[in-house]
Amino acid sequence: MAHAATMKRSDEHVVDRDAETAWTLPGRLYHDPAVYEAEMRTIFSASWQYGCAAADVAAPGDYVTIDLPADAVFVVRGRDGVLRGFHNVCQHRAHRLLEGRGNVKAVVTCPYHAWAFGLDGALRAARNSENVKGFDRTAFGLRPVQVEVHLGMVFVNPDLAAASLEAMAGDMFADIAASLPWLDELAPYRETRQDVGFTFEDDMAFNWKVLIDNCLECYHCAPAHPAFCDLIAMDSYRTTVHGLWSSAKSRLNRHDNAAYPVAADAEQTRGDFWYLWPNMTFGTFPGQANFLAFAVEPTGPETTTTRSDYFMRPGELVHPSRSNYGRDVLWPEDKAICEAVHRGLKSRGYGQGRFIVDQGRSEISEHGVHHFQRLYAEAMGIG
Ligand code: FES
Ligand SMILES: [Fe+2]
Repeated sequence: MAHAATMKRSDEHVVDRDAETAWTLPGRLYHDPAVYEAEMRTIFSASWQYGCAAADVAAPGDYVTIDLPADAVFVVRGRDGVLRGFHNVCQHRAHRLLEGRGNVKAVVTCPYHAWAFGLDGALRAARNSENVKGFDRTAFGLRPVQVEVHLGMVFVNPDLAAASLEAMAGDMFADIAASLPWLDELAPYRETRQDVGFTFEDDMAFNWKVLIDNCLECYHCAPAHPAFCDLIAMDSYRTTVHGLWSSAKSRLNRHDNAAYPVAADAEQTRGDFWYLWPNMTFGTFPGQANFLAFAVEPTGPETTTTRSDYFMRPGELVHPSRSNYGRDVLWPEDKAICEAVHRGLKSRGYGQGRFIVDQGRSEISEHGVHHFQRLYAEAMGIG
């Protein structure tokens, strides 16, 4: 649990359980370095987080390194077909083991002194260790992390004591699968991120929670995203909250809209989005069959990056008009908002706000943001 004095102040409102009467998180929690350190210990070293596309670790020896906010890990497919995850650190003198992605055949060899680990994590060879007094090879296996695969996506959790993701959010994966019957026909899209258009940038000058907050409400859509409000039928936009996840579902407004043209026979006529605690979002936009998985990752108290995978039908390219809309219109609109909000959260002229949550949980109600901030408050011991 985070240090209470850092997180909680008697002159501030806690994020109340009741969304309709709750105040928002205090601004200082969005830039204080001590809070960031507490988040690393309390949230990011102990949560399920997005890893990679399962297709990228399909064959024995395939590996992908994953630099989580608080832990560098990798997943690797064993000769026995089992997918395992480990901290990406050698048990000799702590060099990083693997870079990027690829295939290691039978062993992971450390680049520093060439200790070799099996794909099950066991130390296989340590040069000259047979001449070292009392050296017990079994004591230096790689430290494992938890791994689960859902809907073609690999998730990891550095906390071995954490409950399974299936137990925590299996109902979300079932909901995604039911909403997107063609999802298992898609494959990782290997064109550039710029082509995708709906992924975010690497270096963003605001706290990670600013972007999560922003993704979880459409109260800002009418003032900030006029074209999006022509693409999506706003009166259909509904956010529902569940244990560790929420969803925001909507349908296409009209094929010929101000954002980008959607073909008359388009496979996807909905805009559906899911949020999974603490930092993951999944979504699909109207048009071609498409699915985006992205993690919003802090790189510091006031800087954020994203890691994402995009899935399309194999061989199909994202229509340029859709890429251009995401890259040149929708994201710049949200980026400017997030930067302005981050500056405002640091202002001595700001403390806390109130959520605008209505009884009917309408399309402009902010109960999705409240849900995230309640999970945050509970995790950080200020709930
Ligand atoms: S640090 Fe890996 S072999 Fe020495
Ligand atoms: Fe937005």
